[in-house]
Amino acid sequence: DRRPRVLSGIQPTADSFHLGNYLGAVRNWVTMQDTCDAYYMVVDLHAITAGHDAKVLRDRTRVSLAQLLAFGIDPTRSTLFIQSHVPEHAQLGWVLSCITGFGEASRMTQFKDKSAKQGAERSSVGLFTYPILQAADILLYQADAVPVGEDQRQHLELTRDLAQRFNHLFGKTFTLPEAYIPKATAKILDLQDPTAKMSKSSSSPTGLLEIMEDKARSAKKIKSAVTDTGREILFDPEDKPGVSNLLTIYSALSGRTIEDLVTAYAGKGYGDLKKDLAEVFVDFVTPIQAATREYLDDPAQLDKMLAIGAEKARAVASQTLAAVYDHVGF
Ligand code: ADP
Ligand code: NA
Repeated sequence: DRRPRVLSGIQPTADSFHLGNYLGAVRNWVTMQDTCDAYYMVVDLHAITAGHDAKVLRDRTRVSLAQLLAFGIDPTRSTLFIQSHVPEHAQLGWVLSCITGFGEASRMTQFKDKSAKQGAERSSVGLFTYPILQAADILLYQADAVPVGEDQRQHLELTRDLAQRFNHLFGKTFTLPEAYIPKATAKILDLQDPTAKMSKSSSSPTGLLEIMEDKARSAKKIKSAVTDTGREILFDPEDKPGVSNLLTIYSALSGRTIEDLVTAYAGKGYGDLKKDLAEVFVDFVTPIQAATREYLDDPAQLDKMLAIGAEKARAVASQTLAAVYDHVGF
């Protein structure tokens, strides 16, 4: 297989993905299956760094998996698995933590932000070493490219530093992964506060469009989205962030260009745009919700798929770990 290998993960930290997760991440995962040897995982090890409930985590991991399948991740073309099913992640994480400087890890800004929110004394050591586990996630599969957002750049730099350091200390073992920022990535904004991104942790319930929620509720949220006091439907993210966000979503879900939409809505009002977008959104989520439920309704089939995914992932991960163990003297 000469296609570039890509790896990406998503946390099972909610009962539903939101539209930002799909348009900003998962939609690209689906596309990359055509040109890449793709490894996609639900990162449950990462989901326990800040306290959790066991049953909730188990349910969210499965519902995340089912949604990925419903969105079009195809386990016969990609390797789709749950991180904790592959023990090599934690094993390589330990080795890498022993070549990471304490000061180096302390400079990770995401840890500083998150631990400041939780209270530094209360933050877990797992939250602190999280970027090292992330490095292990990537390096185990010898990934060539990792699709990342801006907020993950520093972690990818750490991954590259650790790979280089290990290769230098113990002999060439790891591929150096490149950051890959897909062109078509849309940044989706909060419907109620279009100066902030749509986010499960910071958006208000009415600002967040969840894929699995009641469709009438989603339609209502779209119809009550914050716009501005003007009347013209124009794409102007600076001065009209609310309307522009609706146009971005409309374009992404319908495949129509923004210019085409602006032309089509010339002379019409915000109400017309919202009403039509609500319909487009409902048409989009209806089959996704049905497919997700179908996957969840057949636990034995889902388990079988997960076992195959874990086996495919371990075939690669165990080879890398064996080389690492050999190199460090185990
Ligand atoms: P959240 O901000 O809701 O906690 P995560 O940080 O778990 O979301 O993000 C998971 C993936 O979804 C990441 O790849 C991230 O870049 C993408 N993503 C999250 N929110 C948005 C958004 N509003 N617009 C575009 N992409 C997003
Ligand atoms: Na986040």
